[in-house]
Amino acid sequence: MDTDVFRGQVAIVTGASSGIGKSLALLLARQGAKVALAARRADRLEEVAAGCRSRGGEALVVPTDVSDEAQCKTLVEKTVATFGRLDMLVNNAGLAVIARLEDYSNLDLFKHTMSVNFYGAVYCTYYALPHLIRSRGRIVAVSSLGGKAPLPYNSPYIASKYAMHGFFDTLRIEMMKYGVSVTIICPFWVVTGFHEAQMDKDGVPKGPGGRAIYTEKMMTAERCAEVALQAAYKRKRELLMGPGHLAAWFRLLAPGLMDRFVIDFLKTTVRRQQENQGEKVEV
Ligand SMILES: NC(=O)c1ccc[n+]([C@@H]2O[C@H](COP(=O)([O-])OP(=O)(O)OC[C@H]3O[C@@H](n4cnc5c(N)ncnc54)[C@H](OP(=O)(O)O)[C@@H]3O)[C@@H](O)[C@H]2O)c1
Repeated sequence: MDTDVFRGQVAIVTGASSGIGKSLALLLARQGAKVALAARRADRLEEVAAGCRSRGGEALVVPTDVSDEAQCKTLVEKTVATFGRLDMLVNNAGLAVIARLEDYSNLDLFKHTMSVNFYGAVYCTYYALPHLIRSRGRIVAVSSLGGKAPLPYNSPYIASKYAMHGFFDTLRIEMMKYGVSVTIICPFWVVTGFHEAQMDKDGVPKGPGGRAIYTEKMMTAERCAEVALQAAYKRKRELLMGPGHLAAWFRLLAPGLMDRFVIDFLKTTVRRQQENQGEKVEV
């Protein structure tokens, strides 16, 4: 997507150290935007900042753990202090844990997932709101198809994404009178660091084995960023990727059948993972 609409505009991207967030930041920079980059890994953010500058944009690195409200406030304050305004907030930071609820030894990882995926977006949005109202800006929430349909072994992740939809769908209505748009992005699978970072019930990341579910047809982070930014530019309500529309309608019309389909989908995925990895996973 090439448009001048973001030239000179100021955007915050959370989860900018990797994957979709990194691609969004680089794309915004290519279009002449000033981008505040937030995530925990400062070294990765510095690399992304260099990429932004080499593409003609400006970049500010603000190491941030979005599960900490005070750090989200600081992120917004530093951005506005540096660039003088805020036109877009992209709530993209996210993670997942793969386990059945009955297998967790306590709820710490469940709460952590909600803190990052849901409360992180709430904190950043709350502190950015006065600035976005002033600029008649844009709010982008990177959810998932998991925000539209359930997936076993993913209860904290799915709960956090469903919560995002409730929050941002409501906020969209509240923001109408100010001309601030709210766009919810629901990717299907995208090739990023996400599946490597996915944790088991004990908080251990899957590592490179997490990529065993990938196929050649899977969307790249660059393509995902491109269509997401296009939707934000057009101030769309929601963008469903992959089989998103089908899943949404299927769930509405035949929820019981959809539940059984989801189990089959999961079995197929696990089978592919086992074939690619020689690993035994119980479904
Ligand atoms: N990849 C997919 O298949 C897929 C599908 C649907 C939806 N999504 C959504 O897309 C979004 C981006 O994920 P991705 O696929 O690009 O995965 P990724 O490559 O793993 O990126 C996740 C980003 O979130 C950041 N993050 C994690 N915990 C954080 C915290 N506490 N504070 C601040 N930043 C934090 C990570 O940075 P640090 O580790 O440096 O903090 C990283 O930059 C997520 O919300 C995810 O749910 C992904």
